[in-house]
Amino acid sequence: MSEPVIKCENVYKIFGANAQKMLQDSNGNVDAKTFQENGCIVGVNNASFEVSKGEMLVVMGLSGSGKSTLLRCISRLTDATGGKIFIEGQDLLQLNNKDLIDLRRNKMGMVFQSFALLPHKTVVENIAFPLQIKGIKTDDSINKAMDMVKLVGLDGRENYFPRELSGGQQQRVGIARSLAVEPDIWFLDEPFSALDPLIRKEMQDEFLRLQDKLQKTIMFITHDFDEALKLADRIAIMKDGIIEQLDTPANIVLNPATEYVRKFTEEVPREKVLLIKDVMDISIDNLGDLKVSKDEIIENVAEKILTQEKSVAVVDGNNKIIGSINPTKIINTVFGGRKNNN
Ligand SMILES: Nc1ncnc2c1ncn2[C@@H]1O[C@H](COP(=O)(O)OP(=O)(O)O)[C@@H](O)[C@H]1O
Ligand SMILES: [Mg+2]
Repeated sequence: MSEPVIKCENVYKIFGANAQKMLQDSNGNVDAKTFQENGCIVGVNNASFEVSKGEMLVVMGLSGSGKSTLLRCISRLTDATGGKIFIEGQDLLQLNNKDLIDLRRNKMGMVFQSFALLPHKTVVENIAFPLQIKGIKTDDSINKAMDMVKLVGLDGRENYFPRELSGGQQQRVGIARSLAVEPDIWFLDEPFSALDPLIRKEMQDEFLRLQDKLQKTIMFITHDFDEALKLADRIAIMKDGIIEQLDTPANIVLNPATEYVRKFTEEVPREKVLLIKDVMDISIDNLGDLKVSKDEIIENVAEKILTQEKSVAVVDGNNKIIGSINPTKIINTVFGGRKNNN
């Protein structure tokens, strides 16, 4: 395994005059309530995790759970109160100012909920702007920006001003602008939260298409569990600054680690999240002729499987049979396991 791109070890962020001292005295056992009684607000409480190259980690939690604070620590927009953060093996807190600015400008891209476009610059000028800050010549920066305009599907609108664009289009500009510098690591803090549901869905699909092509290492923040399930390779679920569970969408839905996490999973249509391989049996005896791929989403093959009398063969990428799934299992997955379902 290659070294993780992002690595957090026991990261804390505590706000308040006594934060440092209280953290030291607590020996790492931070109780948000006690801290609050002493004038400290706990933003992030003992976060440890890794993100590997090309992976999309989605951080999900309700408002105030510490998602943005965690991201700000990792991009060092704020300094963590305790713990260690490594970016490609480099200790983030040891970097001097110049290295930090370099890292942010050349390695990290950021997109926020508020598009923060420059109102008096056109689409293409907005996208070219960070390149010009880096000292790239105007012509070259505009050429590169035009490539980005095409990448996010805004061709023809490059000379519009932000006010002439819809919310979704403005966020495409924000995305294009952050991609122009070709960051390896991409931080997105609720980028679609201000958009209408339909536009939002469109942007999610677009985003998955982009990631398929670009393979960035991503931390994506959302308060929307469905969005997390749809986008994530893995999801970190935060509550009161604590990461309650960090796992794949399927494992979170199948095995919620805490009551809090389970509440989110209750309403989730399992057949839309789980793959055949998540629910298949390993027995391969007495199978019918039909084969399904282990990587199919259950919803897409459920009907086919339900019309079979025998168990259906599950195959891997080389068409090798690695397990089986029977109609009963599909019915149990779709209708069983959810609370209040009878
Ligand atoms: N600069 C700050 N000073 C004091 N408290 C803060 C500051 N920034 C965030 N907080 C607190 O930290 C907690 C986490 O906030 P935040 O990371 O913004 O949550 P989220 O992004 O999940 O909505 C909240 O209780 C918030 O009030
Ligand atoms: Mg936030």
